[in-house]
Amino acid sequence: MPSNRAAWQDAVGIPLSIRQTPYQTNLTPTQILIKTQAWAINPADHILQDISLPFVKYPVILGEDIAGTIEALGSEASAHFQIHDRVLAFAQGATRGSDMGGFQEYVVVDMAFTCGIPGGMSFAEASVFPLGFTTAAHALFNSKTLALPGPEVDVVPGSMGKRVLVWGGASSVGGNAIQLARAAGLEVLTTASKKNFEFVGKLGASMVFDYTSETVVAGIVSELDNSGVPCVGIFQAAGHTDSLGPCFEIAQRVKGDIFVITTSPLQEGVVPEGVRAKMLLGDSHDDILVMWKEFLPKALKEGKYIVAPEPLVVGTRGLEGIQLGYDILRKGVSARKVVVLAK
Ligand SMILES: NC(=O)c1ccc[n+]([C@@H]2O[C@H](COP(=O)([O-])OP(=O)(O)OC[C@H]3O[C@@H](n4cnc5c(N)ncnc54)[C@H](OP(=O)(O)O)[C@@H]3O)[C@@H](O)[C@H]2O)c1
Repeated sequence: MPSNRAAWQDAVGIPLSIRQTPYQTNLTPTQILIKTQAWAINPADHILQDISLPFVKYPVILGEDIAGTIEALGSEASAHFQIHDRVLAFAQGATRGSDMGGFQEYVVVDMAFTCGIPGGMSFAEASVFPLGFTTAAHALFNSKTLALPGPEVDVVPGSMGKRVLVWGGASSVGGNAIQLARAAGLEVLTTASKKNFEFVGKLGASMVFDYTSETVVAGIVSELDNSGVPCVGIFQAAGHTDSLGPCFEIAQRVKGDIFVITTSPLQEGVVPEGVRAKMLLGDSHDDILVMWKEFLPKALKEGKYIVAPEPLVVGTRGLEGIQLGYDILRKGVSARKVVVLAK
């Protein structure tokens, strides 16, 4: 049994501590043990270094996005995957216990959140998907959110005859939302800074608005009201709390009832009267498992779902690079995903 090291967040306000950590060897039937080759870093990771949230108990091994090779399989998982398969997976240490935290050399994951990596895609590229994909899928397809029909690999673009607004399309979550909404047959409107207009267009957005412009809200309201194509909702994918205001204002001003789904917390009193809004957090994964099982593997294999954002690989390799990755992400990135390679 190879030894394992993990990057522990022992308490709030201190750097990561890397130390030897035994890992779970008695896998349940649906679990998979992965030898990690690349980790991607998410805002939640460095946020949980700075502030505590009620559902996270310290010490904890964080990290959601991993790519690597399969080292061991539970009995049921072995019907779907093989030892040494290259896979990407969604690790869930913060909610399911540190054995399942991503920032380790060996990570236990659930087969339901594991997907084969197509030939030609690097581990760094594969690591960018898990949390962004899962979060965007919840926003669009969960029965408690926009409850849209699921994505299809061979969709006819725009075939649903409806639109969605993704606020912050150049972010990791936003880029996944654009690709998923397009694959569900929606026309996608989004916001980004000007330098990322081409990038979000490549992902499938048909119309982009500069969120730094003073006229962004008026421009979107006018477009939504005059197009004659119904808008199913707004997904505030990025921009922290400063982008809630414009999303709510759009929902208030456009004709019709538009549901706003947010990644940012909704403090009491922040949602204006007459606006329906819901933050993504803690919903059951049941409604989106099919997207991990059927859509993502096929779409990646056929090149119909592209690597976005591109990895920004940190100079230091191994778990020692993760703290450095936090520090880079804290300063902010534009259309890039901070990634650490294991070796
Ligand atoms: N609730 C949940 O379950 C959940 C899950 C995952 C993530 N999140 C949260 O979702 C947010 C996005 O995460 P992420 O990993 O996708 O972030 P990210 O990739 O680091 O986001 C960076 C991007 O955000 C864009 N952005 C920044 N401010 C913006 C604004 N005011 N309006 C529009 N776009 C703006 C920037 O676009 P430009 O470069 O074009 O300026 C930049 O490219 C974070 O706040 C994260 O904590 C929540």
